[in-house]
This record gives sequence, C-alpha cells and structure tokens, in this order.
Amino acid sequence: MRCLGIMVLAVLCLAAAVARGQLTSDFYNGCCPQVGDIVRARVSAAMKADPRMGASLLRLHFHDCFVNGCDGSVLLDGSDSEKLAAPNMNSARGFEVVDAIKADLEKACPGVVSCVTPSPSRLSTGCSWYSGGPGYSVLLGRRDGLVANQSGANNNLPSPFEPIDSIIQKFANVGLNTTTDVVVLSGGHTIGRARCALFSSRLSNFSATSSVDPTLDASLASSLQSLCQGGDGNQTAALDVNSADAFDNHYFQNLAGQKGLLASDQGLFSGSGANATKALVQAYSASKERFFCDFGRAMVKMGNISPLTGSAGQIRTNCRAVNK
Ligand code: HEM
Ligand SMILES: *[C@@H]1O[C@H](CO)[C@@H](O)[C@H](O)[C@H]1NC(C)=O
Ligand SMILES: *[C@@H]1O[C@H](CO)[C@@H](O)[C@H](O)[C@H]1NC(C)=O
Ligand SMILES: *[C@@H]1O[C@H](CO)[C@@H](O)[C@H](O)[C@H]1NC(C)=O
Ligand SMILES: *[C@@H]1O[C@H](CO)[C@@H](O)[C@H](O)[C@H]1NC(C)=O
Ligand SMILES: *[C@@H]1O[C@H](CO)[C@@H](O)[C@H](O)[C@H]1NC(C)=O
Repeated sequence: MRCLGIMVLAVLCLAAAVARGQLTSDFYNGCCPQVGDIVRARVSAAMKADPRMGASLLRLHFHDCFVNGCDGSVLLDGSDSEKLAAPNMNSARGFEVVDAIKADLEKACPGVVSCVTPSPSRLSTGCSWYSGGPGYSVLLGRRDGLVANQSGANNNLPSPFEPIDSIIQKFANVGLNTTTDVVVLSGGHTIGRARCALFSSRLSNFSATSSVDPTLDASLASSLQSLCQGGDGNQTAALDVNSADAFDNHYFQNLAGQKGLLASDQGLFSGSGANATKALVQAYSASKERFFCDFGRAMVKMGNISPLTGSAGQIRTNCRAVNK
C-alpha cells in the first residue's frame, strides 16, 4: 500500500510538472506537502549547530544558479565537479546538510523532490532560514541537471579581485538586471565569512603609494592584519563586521563607512566606476525595508535562471550523482 501510495505521488508530481512546465510556489502541495517542514527542520538544526550554515547554503544556491542555471549542478561529485573550481575549492560548504535534507525527503516522498529543492535557497515556503532575513515566496519545481560544469564555475562566478564592471557583466550574462541585482544580491554578504586569502591583498603592500587599501577603514584594517598575520590564508573574518550572522542591512552601512571586507564589496561604494552602484548602496543603507524587498525580488529572479522543468533533467536519488 505504502509503495502504491508513493508511486501515485510520484506520478502526480510528474503529471503536475509536465502539465505546468513552470515553477510555482505550491508545486509540491499535491505530491509532497511535507517538503517545507522537512527542509525547515534540517536547516534550523544545522544552523543551531553552526550559525554560519545559513550563509553557506545561500552561497551554494548562488553558485549553483550561475553555472548551467539552478539545476543542482554544484552538488555533483566527480572529475568535472564544480566543487573543484577555484571559487568553490576549500570554500563552498553545506553539502552534508543538503545530503541530510535529501535523505529525509527520499524517505518521505521517494523520487519526487529535486535536489535543487533541498539545496540552498529552497526555503521552500517563503520563510527565511537565515536569522531575521526577508521572507519571500520561493518558486518550486526545478528538476536536477545531468552534468556538472567546472569550467563554467571558473568562468561565470565573480571573483572578489575583479573590477565592478566585469562583475556586472557576469550578472548580465545570466540575465540578471545589472546594477540593481548586483548591488542588492551582494547584500547576501551581510551574513557569512571570507578567508584571509581573499582580502589580505588589501592589508599590506597594496600599491606603490599606499601599503593598506585607502578605501579600508584603518581600525578594521589593523584588526584584520592581526587576524591574518602569519596564517595560511584560511582564517576567516565576518563579511559584515557588525553582525556576522544576522540578516540586516549592516552590509550597506559598512560600505558607506569603508568597512567592506572584500575589494568587490567596497568597490560598490568606493570604486571609480561606482556612481550608479553607490547611490543604491546609500539607499539600502538608509532603508532595511527597501533592501529586504528588493533582495527577495532579486532572489526569486536568480532562482529562475534556466530552470529545468516539465520532464527535462531528472529527480536525482543522491544529490551527488546522476541516477544510473
Ligand atoms: C557580486 C559578486 C560576488 C563576489 C565577488 C563574491 C565573493 C565571495 C567571496 C570571495 C566569499 C568568501 C569565500 C571564501 O572565503 O572562501 C564569499 C562568501 C559569501 N558569499 Fe559571495 N560573492 C558575490 C556575490 C554573492 C551573492 C550574489 C550572494 C548571494 C546572494 C553571495 C553570498 C555569499 C555568502 C552568504 C558568503 C558567505 C558564505 C559562508 O560563510 O560560508 N555572494 N563571496
Ligand atoms: C559550461 O559553461 C560554459 C559557460 O562558461 C558553457 O559555454 C558550456 O556550454 C557549459 N558546458 C556544459 C557541458 O554545460
Ligand atoms: C533593470 O531595472 C531598471 C530599474 O530598476 C529598469 O529601468 C530596467 O528596465 C531593467 N532592465 C531589465 C533588462 O530588466
Ligand atoms: C610588494 O609589491 C611589489 C610590487 O608589486 C613587489 O615587487 C614586492 O615584492 C612586494 N613586497 C612584498 C613584501 O610582498
Ligand atoms: C587552506 O586549507 C586547505 C585545506 O585544508 C589547504 O589545502 C590550503 O593549502 C590552505 N591554505 C590556503 C591558502 O588555502
Ligand atoms: C561619477 O561621478 C563623478 C562625481 O561625482 C563625476 O565627475 C563623474 O563624471 C561620474 N562618472 C560617470 C561615469 O558618470
């Protein structure tokens, strides 16, 4: 009986997928209504054990969507794994949490819910899973891709050493609305950590005329110097110096006070090409409401990058491998 029930559910979901061929916020209501509860329970347990985990999952979603669309490609192991690409190696984290969510989902609704759902963003029901952040209605129904793309991860993901123009171009390449989307989504850096290797070039021997990046607050520079000194580059600092784990608009207030951590963060306010981005940084720094509202909208947009729908792709059994 249980088996039959499960098969019926799987067929219902597939029928819904083929009929609609698009993402909807109630996608799993008919075939796996527990999705939201399962994801929320696992994510909140993971965040209790490690308050940084919400940030790590948010970043995984971003890194998934920028490479072959939001198709769970970042989760695949193997020789072409995106995990081995420069932006992810020794950096991307949260894969075990995704595995744990997926295991629960396979138990509850086998073969029904894609890996893109348990991964990152899929806060499933519009509730925020990072502390205090904006809620927004997440669209569901993406299916899992069949290939990883390591060179895509190396080429498409922005680097903190890149000039703002070039970062904006990478967002435009995946169809995101340039200035607004770059600035508001960079606000994801209001939570999480970055390793010294990714910002220590700002701390010493910066240029011929200035040993420390002149757009970095002096007292923050000095505390970061002590943190990074003599280490192997793996020590981490908060991306938001004021409140590392709270989703708020401090990130933008920091930029206005020259307290951005990465060169690419501070560049949104201080860079030579920053006229348009600077005005937005100021707006978000003055209004948390505006930031949250625009962030939610942009996250939905990012989550819609080239999704696999209908009968495209598959529902992986194991998020780390395509089905045999
Ligand atoms: C605009 C271009 C972006 C650049 C250059 C960039 C770069 C980086 C870098 C270098 C790190 C630290 C990695 C490490 O220490 O190993 C990081 C962390 C992070 N990024 Fe971005 N990022 C960008 C956009 C985004 C976007 C759009 C989001 C999500 C909406 C995001 C979310 C995060 C989060 C949450 C972390 C912390 C992860 C953790 O603590 O595990 N970033 N980013
Ligand atoms: C990998 O990503 C690149 C974009 O950088 C794209 O041109 C290429 O077609 C992708 N390859 C696969 C196998 O999807
Ligand atoms: C990008 O956003 C701006 C302002 O929010 C809008 O005027 C413009 O039409 C948008 N462009 C695209 C391609 O969506
Ligand atoms: C500082 O930078 C200059 C030029 O970029 C380089 O020649 C020199 O070796 C660097 N010094 C240190 C201590 O890294
Ligand atoms: C950081 O840690 C990784 C993994 O332990 C190691 O391979 C790497 O050499 C360390 N240093 C840097 C700068 O990444
Ligand atoms: C940026 O703003 C500065 C002064 O605020 C102005 O001189 C410059 O022309 C502007 N650049 C662009 C590209 O609009």
